[in-house]
Amino acid sequence: MQRIAVLTSGGDGPGLNPCIRAVTRRAIKQGAEVYGVHWGYKGLLSGEITLLESRDVGGILGQGGTFLGTARCPEFADIQVRRKAIRTMNQHKINGLVVIGGNGSLTGALALHQMGFPAIGIPASIDNDIDGTDIAVGVDTTLNTIVDAIDRIKDTATSHQRAFLIEVMGRDCGYLALRSGLAGGAEMVLVPELEGPSLEKIADTVVDAYVAGKHHCILVIAEGWKPGTRAVADYLLNRTDLGFDVRVTVLGYVQRGGRPSVFDRVLASRMGALAADGLLNGETGKMTALRGRKLELFPLEEAVRQLRPLDTALVELADMLD
Ligand code: F6P
Repeated sequence: MQRIAVLTSGGDGPGLNPCIRAVTRRAIKQGAEVYGVHWGYKGLLSGEITLLESRDVGGILGQGGTFLGTARCPEFADIQVRRKAIRTMNQHKINGLVVIGGNGSLTGALALHQMGFPAIGIPASIDNDIDGTDIAVGVDTTLNTIVDAIDRIKDTATSHQRAFLIEVMGRDCGYLALRSGLAGGAEMVLVPELEGPSLEKIADTVVDAYVAGKHHCILVIAEGWKPGTRAVADYLLNRTDLGFDVRVTVLGYVQRGGRPSVFDRVLASRMGALAADGLLNGETGKMTALRGRKLELFPLEEAVRQLRPLDTALVELADMLD
């Protein structure tokens, strides 16, 4: 009998539970035994591994977070640590691993594959910074959470005639800022991939919105943009000529929680089933990827080589519609 394991690793996000459920149920239906590894790669080191039956993954489809728990595990970059992980899996007679997570976690899966241990990844990162797939698990729900927050902030901004700086997640990648800014009608979006604009230019945008007769001005800032939200706030709060009062909202971890959207549940279910099928059919070193309308297995090596590039056409569209 084949025995596979599944873990969630790195930053959590909506849709991880439906992923685990799909991997588990699909593999069981194919005659395999499935083990859940708790707390990401750390669980492979501490041996926190439990058998998952079909009923163990019941009732979690609509729950945020991950019932297996997750963790960041930078020490997994060390080959000795990975050897220990493989040894643990060998002791449990596990012969394949599904890793659900972002770039760092998928790099870990690739490293296991390169050491001869079969591993398949499922891209799950709210940042949508993983190359090779149109979208990762969790992104859709997070974007809807952000846009809901922008809409709410816009209500109060308009009532008080204020400018708001709204910081969203995205350490290296402006995907969330750009999409939510476009969907939320932001006057300006600042992303880590693009340098500038200057603080003076940002202030000009606020003044322009005021002069145009708008009752609000919304600036969406990705957390990884430099010099950062605080620098913009400090500068704008010292200007007395903007027309608008300025307020700041950092959305933070509210973006990572919550019930997965329909899109994320379906994507997670499809990706989970494909990952289980792939692993049981001898595939390794691959990641599930949505490419256009097709769900396929994509080489992990290519996926982790670079971050997903910024959609410059969308930047132009956002500029044009503000
Ligand atoms: O990678 C997802 C992400 O939410 C980033 O947007 C953010 O910078 C980071 O995780 C936060 O990480 P942590 O949970 O370790 O604070």
